[in-house]
Amino acid sequence: MTDSIRELTILQPDDWHIHLRDDKALATTVPHAAGSFNRVICMPNLVPPVKNVEDAQAYRARIMQHLEASNVSAERKAAFDPRMTLYLTDHTTAQDIELAAKSGIVQAVKLYPAGATTNSADGVTNINACVDVFEALEKYNLPLLLHGEVTHDHVDIFDREKRFLDEVMVQIIAKFPTMKIVMEHITTSDAADFVLSQGNQIAATITPQHLMFNRNHLLLGGIKPHFYCLPILKRESHQKVLLDVATSGNPKFFLGTDSAPHATDKKEAACGCAGCYSAATALPLYATAFDSVGKIDRLEGFTSRFGAQFYGLPVNESTITMIKTPMQIPASYPYFDGSSLTPLMAGESLPWSIKGSL
Ligand code: NCD
Ligand code: ZN
Repeated sequence: MTDSIRELTILQPDDWHIHLRDDKALATTVPHAAGSFNRVICMPNLVPPVKNVEDAQAYRARIMQHLEASNVSAERKAAFDPRMTLYLTDHTTAQDIELAAKSGIVQAVKLYPAGATTNSADGVTNINACVDVFEALEKYNLPLLLHGEVTHDHVDIFDREKRFLDEVMVQIIAKFPTMKIVMEHITTSDAADFVLSQGNQIAATITPQHLMFNRNHLLLGGIKPHFYCLPILKRESHQKVLLDVATSGNPKFFLGTDSAPHATDKKEAACGCAGCYSAATALPLYATAFDSVGKIDRLEGFTSRFGAQFYGLPVNESTITMIKTPMQIPASYPYFDGSSLTPLMAGESLPWSIKGSL
């Protein structure tokens, strides 16, 4: 039993899936991410998207400018290492992949099926046309990060992840059996089972919201727009399986917050944006989820070891201490141009916090 653990020092975590956005938004998102994470894999769905190494270099430089200008400690500034991703389009070439692999700053390539989620209009419309790119990914051992949902209008939103596994994933892995793939932000037992049934080249990230919540939290007693993200929260039985695999100690499952900021007024709207914001509070959220099933002792593998292992990178050397002292999640943060940002579980209290942060 781990009930007695009230303080836990773990290697510094990395976030293998985060949306920092761009320009003025970086003044909020970068210090939040840098407070907890060393490496962060920055999603490329900007407007316009990060499509090649030059875009990635320029984006990274903008992130670093905001880091420098922030009031983050000198130690955290030195440790923060944003890793870039390219956004796969119908026009990405094998040469783009080769340059990315050799760039030293591009860690992976992201595939959004066109129309699947926020800013994915430039995504891939025909996966069969990606053969050259996939061959190059395999050759250079660059992971493919998948937003695993089909997008056909007639497919029910709750079935889109499973349909992707059955209809698209199976084809991709049959043709490219050694390509490294991360199923991003998995939400179903089907995806967990699929990842478990594959070799070590296939892994998955899991968000705090999919470990802690299910579609009842989103829809019962009124629509709660701050629980709306994509892939959408599923039924409780799926949430339980995700919690099982995340806390199992299996290195195929690791931390990816999918922290995805949208200004409060863009979420609390007749057509609200998809995305939960968790960059500043992700570690207390994950600690709370793990502790809820008596598995806090499994936290470090998930937050700080397995992702690095999958990407073939060393684990971090610094540490962070989690403590069972309650914290309150802010009701909102100031965001750019006078807007505000409402985090996941805004105004609520969590049993775990980061030592020294209160
Ligand atoms: C993300 C965003 O807002 O960029 N939204 C989300 O609901 N997760 C996009 C994504 O990762 O799907
Ligand atoms: Zn995302």
